[in-house]
Amino acid sequence: MVSDADFKGRHVVSIKDFSNEEIMHVLDTADKLMPFARNGNKMLDGKIIATLFYEPSTRTRFSFECAMERLGGSILSFSEPKSTSVAKGETLADTIRTIACYSDVIVLRHPQEGAARLASQFSSVPILNAGDGAGQHPTQTLLDLFTIRKHKKEIKGKTVALVGDLKYGRTTHSLAYALSRLGANLMFVSPPTLQMPKEVLGEVRKHGIEPKITSNIEEAVKEADVLYVTRIQKERFPDPEEYAKVAGVYRVDKALLEKAKPGMIVMHPLPRVDEISADVDSLPSAIYFEQAFNGVAVRMALLKLILG
Ligand code: CP
Repeated sequence: MVSDADFKGRHVVSIKDFSNEEIMHVLDTADKLMPFARNGNKMLDGKIIATLFYEPSTRTRFSFECAMERLGGSILSFSEPKSTSVAKGETLADTIRTIACYSDVIVLRHPQEGAARLASQFSSVPILNAGDGAGQHPTQTLLDLFTIRKHKKEIKGKTVALVGDLKYGRTTHSLAYALSRLGANLMFVSPPTLQMPKEVLGEVRKHGIEPKITSNIEEAVKEADVLYVTRIQKERFPDPEEYAKVAGVYRVDKALLEKAKPGMIVMHPLPRVDEISADVDSLPSAIYFEQAFNGVAVRMALLKLILG
């Protein structure tokens, strides 16, 4: 039986750090906190979050900061590492050791895969991974699961199509792992050059799920309960010419969604570029901005559980 006490002081580096029961406990806590995502509650009065963003972010940083504000805590933040002693050559380890002196929890986004794991080895306070290169984005996965469960009631047995850049898209790596463990059926939809990494495929298969691998988005639209669309991660391509070959490869529009299975929902971790056209935004199936809002309640839940 999982309880709040099991989370106190823990790092969140990978979604694998949580058991299925622990994931459900976070989602249940987020459900309870949802009324405060707009109105606030002072349960973390006196606590300080530090948000260290070595890469751009809108949703993750602002929703963590919003969550802490709503819970009555305070924020220390940088989104431009050049404005800190990183510009003088300070290592990530030393930056983390220092910021841990001034805060109760650190949220870290970094371009290098493994950065959050490294930070957790040097930090005296919990590290929450807000995205490490093409690695993991576990708190995004929690809010994605929360959103799927809210709309589909359960995750087991549902068919989720992950679409787009599955090679570099860290949100799809964490989500594929969690969904397979929770018993969802998976479709991996990408151009051949952007397929899901072998390690993630191996993990998914280990959980008894054989994903359908295709480059055909129409197939996914007809079969999926959840269409999870992602951006082609331009910034992670070593060769701009390779990006040019796949840019704009998928475009979800109203006409395509007319072929959808009834009740299918369209999700996206955002930001989007051109992979979902604006004419989709007004459809009841388009829930990506609600998904972004759910990030507040889920991150409130994590902060409450981890800070105790
Ligand atoms: N979903 C997500 O990570 O968005 P940001 O890059 O804006 O934080």
